[in-house]
Amino acid sequence: MDPLRAQYEAFPYPERDPADEARRLVVGSPSALFEIDHYLFGGRRDWRRPFRALVAGGGTGDGLIQLAQQLKDAGCPAEIVYLDLSQAARRIAEARAAARGLSGMTFLTGDLCDPPPGPFDYVDCCGVLHHLPDPAAGLAALAGVLSPGGGMGIMVYAPHGRTGVYPLQQAFAALMGEDPPAERVALARQALAALPPTNWFLRNPHLSDHQASDAGLHDLLLNARDRPFEIGELVAMADAAGLGLVSLTEPGRYDPARMLPDTPAFRERLARLGPLERLALGERLAGDIRMHVAYLAPAARAGTAMARPTPQAVPRLNGLPAAALARTVAARGEIAISYGEITHRIAVPAAAAPLIARIGAGRSLGAIAGAAGLDWFGFMALWGPVHRGLTGFNRLHYTTVP
Ligand SMILES: C[S@@+](CC[C@H](N)C(=O)[O-])C[C@H]1O[C@@H](n2cnc3c(N)ncnc32)[C@H](O)[C@@H]1O
Repeated sequence: MDPLRAQYEAFPYPERDPADEARRLVVGSPSALFEIDHYLFGGRRDWRRPFRALVAGGGTGDGLIQLAQQLKDAGCPAEIVYLDLSQAARRIAEARAAARGLSGMTFLTGDLCDPPPGPFDYVDCCGVLHHLPDPAAGLAALAGVLSPGGGMGIMVYAPHGRTGVYPLQQAFAALMGEDPPAERVALARQALAALPPTNWFLRNPHLSDHQASDAGLHDLLLNARDRPFEIGELVAMADAAGLGLVSLTEPGRYDPARMLPDTPAFRERLARLGPLERLALGERLAGDIRMHVAYLAPAARAGTAMARPTPQAVPRLNGLPAAALARTVAARGEIAISYGEITHRIAVPAAAAPLIARIGAGRSLGAIAGAAGLDWFGFMALWGPVHRGLTGFNRLHYTTVP
């Protein structure tokens, strides 16, 4: 058996207990329904219309279960196809779906390079392409079953935030690559405990999967195949598959202007860069980007798929209660978003606070402007910084998905 498949048979990833479905839904990016709507369908898809999705390399089912549950809650007549190499992972995904009473799913065991027939409105491929022998061929195969009006949510590993992972993977492969998976995990734990403090993996504060579970440790440090992508490499691979980058979910984390002196010398140099060059520079300066989470669409519509702030657009905050955010903006004129050691400060006019407070209950931007007594021009003068700041960190979307 291919060592990568053997790994995910021995350690289905991520480690999940179907009994936990009774107490929580695992949510995240990509594939939250409001994100799919915002990034791929202009924030205005009619979710009463049928929707067909493929979850490629679905593992133990996090993306699958989130998507199926949210589509059900939205009343969408949906069909979801799950595909994974690992039968052990599939059994857990099936048990999680059964525990929730979810239906409308087809479970397949196989290679995503040979996907089931399309067209699919949406393809989820989270944490998988970097494990393929030929990631470009895998992405092209998935692009081939995507509807021209559809899109894809992906996650691939990024090198700089994973500093220290790859030398340790190589060291562990040399030491115990031939041992059975469970023995490898036990030996790796002993080795980790004895490593010198100078080891770059130990010095990297951005990684914790190895502490969460045996499956996490195996996935991170004993992986049979794992190669990271800088953002430029990811976009080149998408381009070769006929796909364009709609957006990263957190482009603000890649903004070099946030990491360089705000002086004419740097502003002039940054102004010479194109959008992708800016992202690439930001990734190299930031150092903490461990993965790229992105939405892709067929190249012809990648530039127009994402929602825009129009009078009809319905804003939705992600993980930030409107009332508390409005109070902070009124008091400080800024929003602070933290990732570990970094806090990104977004300057927002205090006068935008009453607009933020009105987000919710399906109110559109036009309705919020009207209630505040502002014409569209006056409204956008205040809303523009809120929009740019919060969408930069995946905290604001436009969608009617609750
Ligand atoms: C790191 S896990 C990610 C699981 C899931 N997508 C998630 O984000 O929770 C990678 C999964 O991809 C699967 N996989 C790897 N290569 C594959 C391939 N060529 N075709 C289908 N599945 C594959 C593995 O079996 C494993 O379940």
